[in-house]
Amino acid sequence: MSKQRYHEAVPDIDVEEFRKVVMSRRSVRRFDDTPIPDAVLQDCLDMALLAPNSSNLQPWEFHVIKTPALKKELAVACLNQNAARTAQELVIIVARLETWKEHCDMMLDNWPEETVPKVVQSYYGRLAKIYYNQGPLNILGIGKRALAAVTGLKRAVPRGPFTHADMKVWAAKTVALGAENFMLAMRAHGFDTCPMEGFDARRVNRMLKLPPDAFVVMVVGCGKRAPDGVYHPRIRFDRERFIKTH
Ligand SMILES: Cc1cc2nc3c(=O)[nH]c(=O)nc-3n(C[C@H](O)[C@H](O)[C@H](O)COP(=O)(O)O)c2cc1C
Repeated sequence: MSKQRYHEAVPDIDVEEFRKVVMSRRSVRRFDDTPIPDAVLQDCLDMALLAPNSSNLQPWEFHVIKTPALKKELAVACLNQNAARTAQELVIIVARLETWKEHCDMMLDNWPEETVPKVVQSYYGRLAKIYYNQGPLNILGIGKRALAAVTGLKRAVPRGPFTHADMKVWAAKTVALGAENFMLAMRAHGFDTCPMEGFDARRVNRMLKLPPDAFVVMVVGCGKRAPDGVYHPRIRFDRERFIKTH
């Protein structure tokens, strides 16, 4: 008998509706002039925030660019790509490498039950703060890597994050999932997107006045696809190339 106390109802889902969303999502490079209702945009952002994320530490930010001058400047920073120039909305999806500290405390403050389980207290109060902290000049990370190398000889241990680069990968994994939720939500509302990594990161950081621990993972152009908005039929290689069974 499971000790689990919490149970959540799951709705019936029509997989064919989901498939329609997934299949019809394409990277759209030209949008028409149809505006995206703000309620739709906000709903898609809310769904983005529901993406799975590492330790529930939510190291993301979604910057919606409304100011026309900033939008123009951003399209230039996106190397003048059509997907940015014709977008009705531009959403910049950002990873933060330092918010995890505050978010650990917020996890404990916002725990949705009367008592915070001991294991949760210990994780967010102590363990996560060691796990994600690499220390000045990476000194803690170096120590943790050495410890993992030794203890790892006998048992399974986490092999990172131990460096600033590991932390960037850590955050980017989560943030990309948020981006995908956002894009699928847009499609489900009948709108389209184009994720872009073709941008001048330095210029975009400066434009948004991003703090030093932030980096832009993707810029997403959004709107309704123009008749010539998708450039060619979808290409995917044979599934045998990618799907391995062990
Ligand atoms: C991380 C990432 C970066 C991308 N950057 C660009 C980009 O800068 N410009 C662009 O036109 N498409 C960009 N794309 C879109 C891809 O080219 C596109 O997803 C791929 O060709 C598959 O096509 P589909 O999305 O229509 O299935 C990017 C996609 C991802 C996931």
